Amino acid sequence: MKILSIETSCDETGVSMLEAKGGTKNPSFKILAESLNSQVKIHAPFGGVYPSLAKREHIKNLPILLERTLKKSNLSKKEKPVDLIAVTYGPGLEPALWTGIVFAKELAKKWDVPLMPVNHMEGHIFSVFGKQKGKFVIPKIKFPIISLLVSGGHTELVLVEDWGKYKIIGETLDDAAGEAFDKVARMLELPYPGGPEISRLASQARKLRIKNYELKIKLPRPMMYSKNFDFSFSGLKTAVLYLIRDLKKENPNILKNEKIKQAIALEFENAVVETLVYKTKKAIEKYNIKTVILAGGVSANKYLIKQLKKITKGSQSFLFPYKKLATDNSIMIGMAGYLKYLNNKKGVAIKLSKIKAEGGLRL
Ligand code: KG4
Ligand code: ZN
Repeated sequence: MKILSIETSCDETGVSMLEAKGGTKNPSFKILAESLNSQVKIHAPFGGVYPSLAKREHIKNLPILLERTLKKSNLSKKEKPVDLIAVTYGPGLEPALWTGIVFAKELAKKWDVPLMPVNHMEGHIFSVFGKQKGKFVIPKIKFPIISLLVSGGHTELVLVEDWGKYKIIGETLDDAAGEAFDKVARMLELPYPGGPEISRLASQARKLRIKNYELKIKLPRPMMYSKNFDFSFSGLKTAVLYLIRDLKKENPNILKNEKIKQAIALEFENAVVETLVYKTKKAIEKYNIKTVILAGGVSANKYLIKQLKKITKGSQSFLFPYKKLATDNSIMIGMAGYLKYLNNKKGVAIKLSKIKAEGGLRL
């Protein structure tokens, strides 16, 4: 069946066309077309995503991307070109989510096809099976899975006992990991989004063998040894703020010193990664985990991948997405939408009026 999928939860407008086959045990996909429009440059001056601007951009982009996607897949919008539409309905920025939902509902009505609302975080979990183009399958997976979902809005450890059976066993009590990367990058006068910038500086620091203790740069690992699986990154962010403030007292131009910036980025990345990896390891032990999934925008972080590889070397398989599928995209929404459709007694359409944006949606 052909699936049109739509993603507008944050600052990426994504529209793609997948050909999906097989049942829940052997689903396979072929990407017929994918269109993505990133608003990163538009939001960069604000140092974060500006919801009303995101909404405006999605409204502008959606018809253009649909046209492009249909053309690339050799389909015409006049006939009924698809069998199913999948759309992200949360979590995310509600004004942004609504643009995708309204657009998807109009198409579902016009073409008389079912509309499947998809949880964005479930999409991230499925992103690890996707490819950037061509065909791919969802392989036989050993459950239980632990998913470390780390993005600009979320930091969660999700226990997956089977597809569709999710339990959040731990999450951030304040800032998300990606959000902390973005805020610390701003303090270091680096552009948005900050994750890639910080990780670039941190890897330079590792190559140059910069020693943080010599520079007296030390940050806390908040909640690392707490008895639960929760995280907290707000205190870490504040610690960076105070560190920079104190360094500036000694030298107001301290941020012109590249070595200091590299050292702060290194210590910050180490603190975040150590905490994430430590809690993931605890969860693997407690729940007798067979598969570890890392997903969400922060899964593009090479150091995090490297450290998770180390702890899963033995008996767990470790999956993470291709770089292009790590950040928000519509391919992952189409995949999760298909599985949900199969599990939802094929053909039973969800009433359109029941589908609404849920900014705070949980797995
Ligand atoms: O999943 P995503 O594209 O959007 C949300 O749903 O939030 O994640 C975006 C986040 C941003 O905070 C960005 O700074 C972070 O992912 N990110 C990274 C890296 N690449 C992107 N964080 C750390 N290291 C990276 N290499
Ligand atoms: Zn996301």
